[in-house]
Amino acid sequence: MSVEKMDRRQFASDNYSGICPEAFAAMTAANQGHEVSYGDDTWTEKASDLIREVFEADCEVFFVFNGTSANSLSLASLCQSYHSILCHELAHVEVAECGAPEFFANGAKVLLLSGPNGKIEPETIKVAANKRTDIHYPKPKALSLTQATEVGTIYSLDELQALTDMARHCHLRVHMDGARFANAVAALGAKPKEVTWKAGVDVLCFGGTKNGIAVGEAVVFFNRELAREFDYRCKQGGQLASKMRFLSAPWVGMLQNNAWLRHASRANAMAKRLEAGIRGLPTVEIAHPVQTNSVFARLPETVAKAMYERGWKFYTHVGAADEARLMCSWDTTEGDVDAFAGDLKEVTSPR
Ligand SMILES: Cc1ncc(COP(=O)(O)O)c(C=O)c1O
Repeated sequence: MSVEKMDRRQFASDNYSGICPEAFAAMTAANQGHEVSYGDDTWTEKASDLIREVFEADCEVFFVFNGTSANSLSLASLCQSYHSILCHELAHVEVAECGAPEFFANGAKVLLLSGPNGKIEPETIKVAANKRTDIHYPKPKALSLTQATEVGTIYSLDELQALTDMARHCHLRVHMDGARFANAVAALGAKPKEVTWKAGVDVLCFGGTKNGIAVGEAVVFFNRELAREFDYRCKQGGQLASKMRFLSAPWVGMLQNNAWLRHASRANAMAKRLEAGIRGLPTVEIAHPVQTNSVFARLPETVAKAMYERGWKFYTHVGAADEARLMCSWDTTEGDVDAFAGDLKEVTSPR
């Protein structure tokens, strides 16, 4: 492992950024005196109530340390060990969680669906769910959707409804990986309830980290029955924070006064600016529609290398092999975008 100090803001990951001022201020405010531990504190109560307000629903809310645990534990609560979970082949639960969903669900199998731009299509759910109905096959029980997807695209409200209708038709419960839910809501301009329970989502993993919180995601059960004993799952999975108020307080800072949507909108806008700055450069191709805070750009290897040599960092393993993933964060500036686009212009311009 090599450790490097950053000399600039990068586009490698929306986890590279720091804590946004609203989340930090709330943590500082929570750092006063004593509070009861393990979630029975005033900050956790307030953050949970704010989430219920934002979603206009009497949902069950749990705060955990990261997205892998949020996804794995919530999927485990939708499945028995002999069940299967349908998801896109690029889904984080499949490619970036080290088998944690299968582990925490005691062996439930993840089954993969393909579809363009990181998105599942209803027909593929039907095919997968009906492929086998005999006792020798892991019975499909859950559909996992990522909103926004791993390649930065979003499901429209109509697409979402068609997917969840199909899921219901096939007797599947619906999980949503919302590591970038804020970016999706900001891009759709929809109400959070329209993107979740009204569209048939049973449980949402609501991402805080990529939105500007230091650590943590909220697991939001709209189907309260599925949340039964989830607190025990969290504890057993090492996800019950003793000083819970420091996981929950940042949510108060984010949800009050809509900071979560402001930050997501800014990151989305910077991705649009980046797209405009690099689209049409020689040898550069935009690989997926730019709808949230990422730009996926196909670059020749020599170009990627030249950009690395200029000090830029980005990953090429998330989409297809030649796709550079460029992520914008809550703190990405116009200057950052223009500097990257300017360098890419220089390295792609014929001499
Ligand atoms: C789509 C998606 N889901 C979940 C996560 C959360 O993962 P982690 O366990 O690293 O917080 C990520 C982070 O990269 C992600 O991109």
